[in-house]
Amino acid sequence: MKSYFLKPKFYKSFIRPILFKLPPEFSQKLADKALNNLILQQIISNNLTVNNPKLTTEFVGIKLNNPIGLAAGYDKNCKNIKALEKLGFGYLVCGTIIHNARTGNPKPRIVRLKKDNGLINSLGFPSEGINQIIQNLDKDKNNNVPIILSISGLNIDEIINCYKKVENYADAFEINISSPNTKGLKLFQDQKILKELFVRLNKIRRKPLIIKIPPYTNYKSPIYDSTKYHDKDQIMRIVQTCLEESIEGLTISNTTPIFNNNLKTKSGGLSGKPVFENMLDIINDIKLEVGSKIDINACGGISTGKDVLEAIKVGAKSAQIYTSLVYEGPGIVKAINEEILSLLNENDNLASLVSKYK
Ligand SMILES: Cc1cc2nc3c(=O)[nH]c(=O)nc-3n(C[C@H](O)[C@H](O)[C@H](O)COP(=O)(O)O)c2cc1C
Repeated sequence: MKSYFLKPKFYKSFIRPILFKLPPEFSQKLADKALNNLILQQIISNNLTVNNPKLTTEFVGIKLNNPIGLAAGYDKNCKNIKALEKLGFGYLVCGTIIHNARTGNPKPRIVRLKKDNGLINSLGFPSEGINQIIQNLDKDKNNNVPIILSISGLNIDEIINCYKKVENYADAFEINISSPNTKGLKLFQDQKILKELFVRLNKIRRKPLIIKIPPYTNYKSPIYDSTKYHDKDQIMRIVQTCLEESIEGLTISNTTPIFNNNLKTKSGGLSGKPVFENMLDIINDIKLEVGSKIDINACGGISTGKDVLEAIKVGAKSAQIYTSLVYEGPGIVKAINEEILSLLNENDNLASLVSKYK
């Protein structure tokens, strides 16, 4: 009975209609409050964690209980780690953390595309800043799942300073050079600057690095924001630099720049179901370049176990979700993991499938 409340069906029928009547950022605040509520945590208990050796895998040398991670942006200030762990994730990407506190872009800055199960956001890195985030991280020590911290900055020094201050708090780092909503990040699409960043990080780091790259598309459309868009060659140059500097992982990809008049900034990043097919195409292309030298994390529109297996078949080792958590609710990770188990052949496990396509 308990677990019925946690199923996507219950969430979609009773909770989501209420949350979706409210502005998106307010709904997320309510959802976070609920997640941190001790009574709800008691109901969740360990009900959403699927423990099955067939699901275990590995990413950038980190052992994962299952392949589903929370994508960056949901817990920007690292305030909900303990609550989010309970949703059954194999790992959490928290952040994006930046050094100095920022308010981000003016509101409205998130739009729901309800018919398409998508979101468009133009948050622009709102952040409490590194000092407050370290205090938040100190409160939530002793995690049960691996933590990857997403960090960024508007120049190399900011990223390096950020990295140095939080290195001990994470199992790995994801460097976000790809938010379409933050002026200044384009800097890192310059190969020389990106290389300098990697060289400097390589001198000091003791943790694996994952680079979160921007997407490209082969389908031209006037709805895409061409002022922020990247072409395939640019992305392949970034990938080349990652290979040269022995970066361990890539997250493919960040949101797709798109125009939308309901946002104050008139343009933002598209996520959710509409980006899924394009994300697979990009992984396919990049896998041909990197082979098994760099691990790939699939991120974009994943909402089912079948989606995860499709991503693995084009070369991913693990997956991240954000928008499907908003649309399907707290039971989504369990639903995905159970579907993966139901789709695996009797003698297969996830790790063997990953190595088959590596
Ligand atoms: C509201 C919102 C905020 C986000 N903030 C960040 C962020 O701070 N850093 C980052 O690297 N990606 C951020 N993302 C992008 C997600 O991590 C992810 O790459 C993207 O949403 C595609 O995955 P999905 O379709 O499963 O949502 C954000 C996405 C959304 C919807």
